[in-house]
Amino acid sequence: MRILMLAAEAAPLAKVGGLADVVGSLPKALQKLGHDVRVVLPGYGAIDWVRWAPERRTAFPVYTTWGAPQAEVWETDVDGIPHFLVTGAPIPMERWIYGRTIDEDGPKFVFFSLAALWSTEALAWKPDVVHAHDSHTGAAAWWLGTDGRHNPFFRDIASVFTIHNLPYAAQGAGKALGEYKLSRDARLLALPESYRDSLMGLGIVGADWLTTVSPTYAREILEPEGGRGLDGVLRLRSDRLAGILNGIDTDDWNPATDKELIANFDAGGLAKRARNKTELQREAGLEADPRMPLLAVVSRLVKEKGYDIAAPAIRRWIERGGQFVLLGTGDPTLEHEYAQFELRYPHRASVRLRFDARYARRVYGGADAILLPSRYEPCGLAQMIAMHYGCVPVARRTGGLADTVVDAGDPGGTGLMFDEFNPWALWDALDRTLKVYAQPAQWTELQRHGMTHDFSWSRSAREYAALYEEAVAARTRV
Ligand code: GLC
Repeated sequence: MRILMLAAEAAPLAKVGGLADVVGSLPKALQKLGHDVRVVLPGYGAIDWVRWAPERRTAFPVYTTWGAPQAEVWETDVDGIPHFLVTGAPIPMERWIYGRTIDEDGPKFVFFSLAALWSTEALAWKPDVVHAHDSHTGAAAWWLGTDGRHNPFFRDIASVFTIHNLPYAAQGAGKALGEYKLSRDARLLALPESYRDSLMGLGIVGADWLTTVSPTYAREILEPEGGRGLDGVLRLRSDRLAGILNGIDTDDWNPATDKELIANFDAGGLAKRARNKTELQREAGLEADPRMPLLAVVSRLVKEKGYDIAAPAIRRWIERGGQFVLLGTGDPTLEHEYAQFELRYPHRASVRLRFDARYARRVYGGADAILLPSRYEPCGLAQMIAMHYGCVPVARRTGGLADTVVDAGDPGGTGLMFDEFNPWALWDALDRTLKVYAQPAQWTELQRHGMTHDFSWSRSAREYAALYEEAVAARTRV
């Protein structure tokens, strides 16, 4: 199958969050299954143009109510996958990926979505399926499902739209929708009024098939709490909604070969892991005591990840003899709150308010446990990476966390789970963590189960491929 992926981020070219990891890995896994995959991204200034040296392939105008900005399409190769970058006036060349307002991002992503689709015709490479990721590409799924259905080139191309994070819906994009003359089809009426000008809403009603990144999140978004007003329309479309779990790139994330670790290890030789912990304690300025349980946070520091309720429980963890390392940036109030830990608990807590991909690897490879108290979590990649590195997740049972972590009390346990979103439930899980940690044999079991679980992309890629087949078959029947 010929598969065209559209996204706002793809590692290693442009990365803000987990979306980039998914769009960086899934194409490779699909290619391994024999598919012909191409990726299209906006050609932001944030991409290292010198390093990737893309070649100009084609250019064409995109008609709007105010003129016809030129789209230029550039091609580069990333690990054997052709990647196309779209540039043009609505996509600022400054070094950022997301702008601050929908007035910037609306036109930017609508222009990108349309140009990305139309580049396939300009390059005479017709995809069987367009796989559009998250709100930024919703206009592509919408155009294919409306005007594209009257276009001989695009008529029978199937579309799959993946929701990575529903609340980031890109609402208020009405001006851009008007300017780019996207048709106002009756299907919009299935959306609540506040979502009729949202790029996420367009994707949801426009695509042939919808997916989200875990089976549990696929169920949660059908309920008012998870659906945020979109649950009704999602219920209407639930026969075309699938939850497919993300994987991790196990070539890249491999504790047996990771060059950032002082000692490489695998599930059969967990004893070697201890050196990484000592090294991490030294690097973070903590007491180098191998018996002290070391808890980590590696995350964006935002409310949705639950760190606004975690501080009291982490204080208690430290007061009970634990250590704590944090790596991440985010909400200034939370940054401020966590910065206090280092002052209050010298040599017991280390807080690094920055993004550091290499240090993150040493944390996964050295910390005993990682805390993931998410309010909601479409999938979450950190828990999978952590388990793969023998770092035990302490996680809230929601979304993809519920689908990937097995509680220590259940057969094949890999972590410690809690249900209620409050500081007491969270502390309860940390308290249980201390108890299990005090039983080394039991703890090693948790680590082993996590490390030997298959989190690779191959299984998910097969599920996507099967869904594409179905979408294509349904499209060519109509
Ligand atoms: C979003 C979600 C996260 C998911 C990622 C990749 O960032 O918040 O849960 O893992 O997308 O799908």
